[in-house]
Amino acid sequence: MSMQVIRVPTEPFAGQKPGTSGLRKKVRVFRQERYLENFVQAIFDTVSGQQGQTLVLGGDGRYYNDVAIQTILRMAAAAGFARVLVGRDGILSTPAASAVIRKWRAFGGIILSASHNEGGPEGDFGIKYNLANGGPATETFTDAVYRRTQEISEYCLVDAPDVDLARDGETVIGDMVVQVIDPVADYAGLLESLFDFDRIASLLARPDFRMRFDAMHAVTGPYARAILEHRLGAPVGTVIHGIPLPDFNGGHPDPNPVHAAGLVQALADPGSGLSFGAASDGDGDRNMIVGPNFVVSPSDSLAVLAANHALIPAYAGGLAGVARSMPTSCAVDRVAAALGIPCYETPTGWKYFGSLLDAGMATLCGEESSGTGSNHVREKDGLWAVLYWLNILAVRNTPADEIVREHWQRFGRNVYSRHDYEGIDSALADRLIEGLRTRLAGLPGSEVCGQRIAGADDFAYTDPVDGSRSERQGIRILLDDGSRVVFRLSGTGTEGATLRVYLERFVADPGRHAVPTQEALAPLIGLADAVAGIGSITGRLRPDVIT
Ligand code: G1P
Ligand code: ZN
Repeated sequence: MSMQVIRVPTEPFAGQKPGTSGLRKKVRVFRQERYLENFVQAIFDTVSGQQGQTLVLGGDGRYYNDVAIQTILRMAAAAGFARVLVGRDGILSTPAASAVIRKWRAFGGIILSASHNEGGPEGDFGIKYNLANGGPATETFTDAVYRRTQEISEYCLVDAPDVDLARDGETVIGDMVVQVIDPVADYAGLLESLFDFDRIASLLARPDFRMRFDAMHAVTGPYARAILEHRLGAPVGTVIHGIPLPDFNGGHPDPNPVHAAGLVQALADPGSGLSFGAASDGDGDRNMIVGPNFVVSPSDSLAVLAANHALIPAYAGGLAGVARSMPTSCAVDRVAAALGIPCYETPTGWKYFGSLLDAGMATLCGEESSGTGSNHVREKDGLWAVLYWLNILAVRNTPADEIVREHWQRFGRNVYSRHDYEGIDSALADRLIEGLRTRLAGLPGSEVCGQRIAGADDFAYTDPVDGSRSERQGIRILLDDGSRVVFRLSGTGTEGATLRVYLERFVADPGRHAVPTQEALAPLIGLADAVAGIGSITGRLRPDVIT
């Protein structure tokens, strides 16, 4: 019996343009008839050679995940895939999906997630395509998908009942096998191969060491339980908020001091008995590391991981290089210089790290937005970062806050903060950025709020491996003393525009490392407003979120 493909006529939707990390829209936008189908068909029309191949499929369990998966399965069968590996209950964290693609040599993968954005029927939904290397599709690919969405005239699917995703095993739809897999096993096995699990287990068994992992009602719950509690023997209850909920319990699953305030408070309370805290985001690729009364800045975390690589079995042989996104602080640059290895500076978004990792040019990568990862997968990886820290703590027998302070002593401190202005009218946000662009050439040499501007540009990047060029990736203003202010608009928001202002100042003198971050950055905060006209153009006098 040959497979019956149904062809459904359709028309393009405006705005199906993937951003920093796939297509992200309100659930109500995705629920429009043919909206999801159009985008998925555009992906399948853009790839070629998928006949007989394997696709990986799963998501962070947010609202609409279950419905979207059934649709994508019917469409994948019509597109000629031979097999789809789908996580049980439709669950796959972003790093786990990357691990599964690589392990089973799949053709690619579709991940359903809007990362740390809110979920539920009023929240956000998202879809991204990953390539055979396990990493996010390149900009060339996503541009082609976008062009396809603008000319699409039909989508294809097979007629088949919903597949039962609650049990592991195989079902056939059309000519395609749907294989439901354990979403945790491959990933947990990979992490176990990188770190010293015995040593971490002894640390977790110590009566004077207590850890808490906040899964924020999102996808990492089952992963953290399996790895921390089952494999490593941490006490049951170490993982909190561990059941993935479609609306993340009404929260914002973003592991930062604003949205994970409870964890930060618990670590600030000596009565809690906690010595180490960590959290991950909606789809499991971000992480937050918290020591006693101390939140580790993500940029510092990347630098600490690099500086301590010799303690970790997988990286003890040396790092080929490190990479950070442009707005991420230059703390890791100092470590790279000390190690004598290259440090690459890429545009924001994990997709730019893929070619460096594939080419063996970088081993560790990171972003200021709580993302760190390595060449073990092609996504950032929340639990990987947590295990890396645990491995360091287990070997050094020093609390996380002291490890960071000692790091500053040795390398100096890159005081760092990001200020976000959310839900700005898009036209005003564009005016602000355009205004900066037109004034860029005149800024160097000028003095603003008593500070001399040494350089200013709009960041552009040429991929050293494939030569592809990405322009207009953020406005940088550099001061004489190495301080920086960076302005860019978010590419992941779904409502109006979000202006991100990144502030960084290098403080060498250990006697001044304890100065509160916002205080140390106050002159730069003033300069940012004066140069860009944040208050005068947007009417906003202070940021909505400070991280
Ligand atoms: C944000 C972060 C960026 C990260 C992306 C996906 O993108 O800034 O570092 O890679 O989310 O998690 P943005 O909204 O700034 O475009
Ligand atoms: Zn994420």
